[in-house]
Amino acid sequence: MTRINVMQPWLGAEEVAAVTEVIESGWVAQGPKVAAFEEAFARRQEAEHAVATSSCTTALHLALLVGGVGPEDDVVVPSFSFVATTNAPTYVGARPVFADVDPVTGNLTAATVEAALTPRTRAVIAVDQGGVPVDLAAIRSVTDPRGILVIEDAACGAGSTYRGRPVGAGAELAAWSFHPRKLLTTGEGGMLTTSNEEWARRARTLREHAMSVSAAARHASVLAPPEEYLEVGFNYRMTDLQAAVGIVQLGRLDEIVRRRREIAATYDEAIASIDGLRAVRDPSWGTSNFQSYWVEVEPRFAMDREGLLAHLASAEISARRGIMAAHRQPAHAALEHAPLPVTERLTDATLILPVFHQMTAEEQDRVIDALRSAAAR
Ligand SMILES: Cc1ncc(COP(=O)(O)O)c(C=O)c1O
Repeated sequence: MTRINVMQPWLGAEEVAAVTEVIESGWVAQGPKVAAFEEAFARRQEAEHAVATSSCTTALHLALLVGGVGPEDDVVVPSFSFVATTNAPTYVGARPVFADVDPVTGNLTAATVEAALTPRTRAVIAVDQGGVPVDLAAIRSVTDPRGILVIEDAACGAGSTYRGRPVGAGAELAAWSFHPRKLLTTGEGGMLTTSNEEWARRARTLREHAMSVSAAARHASVLAPPEEYLEVGFNYRMTDLQAAVGIVQLGRLDEIVRRRREIAATYDEAIASIDGLRAVRDPSWGTSNFQSYWVEVEPRFAMDREGLLAHLASAEISARRGIMAAHRQPAHAALEHAPLPVTERLTDATLILPVFHQMTAEEQDRVIDALRSAAAR
């Protein structure tokens, strides 16, 4: 029996050709391909400015810096997210404050954000968890009147929609990931998008050691102009090798989303008839790219989440525990927080099923058969 992975990137000959072209050009670091990828990504996501970075984590760091978040500030985050969402505020000396999430979407809501506000709240990081669009307008109805910045953590969101537009389109700042677990991959990589020209300019500088003249511009001239280092910056650059892959992948995004939604619809239909399993679905305000297709194992199901994971593994199906809870990790155990009952329930009772572009009908049938046989135990 061959193993079914939870996710497999979809890369092919076009990506190989794009990388080869960059290698043959002699310029492999951040340069013209990164600029072209930024432009194409901004167009696709309806963002005004896009700044490529080495990862979503570094894009989140830059977002907090350009948004003016620093020591003495509180940043509301969901604990129910990959740990980078909670780590980022600590990089600027701010304190993460955990808010609970909605049981259906797994995302922050206006009510959970409002309950977590403190007099020091300067920003909120709202995640499109697993690709499910967060209701940003509802959250901003609470934060905008208080002058609190909302940063969208759209790590998983490329290809999802919110109110008829790509997620992130209306965000002041949004951070994206191109890790291979995401729909669109560059190996590692990220993007910061923003509606604010000055923030984009500063993020561009900060990602490149806060150099007054970019390395690409210096290389382009025979007598490189002298540069200055304007503030303490970082090396958060993407390479042209990655960007060349990103451009090809971006061209495939619609097709990848279409296929993932097809796979999700097949799971939906099967899971609807399995008592005790509840699947993630689109909220009323948007569509998911199904970066993660998660199911909640309810108490009346024949076995618990760990039992179901083991059952799937015995059929050579590699599912994953659901989204983690950052407040339970040693790195953040010292942070005080209000009770997070939905976060704890979802992190304990959910699992992520295999979904990837090349998944065959036979492979998906194997997963569904394994779910059914678990239910019958
Ligand atoms: C919600 C969320 N934020 C941030 C990240 C970090 O992304 P990266 O690995 O590109 O730094 C991830 C990665 O899984 C994520 O899921």
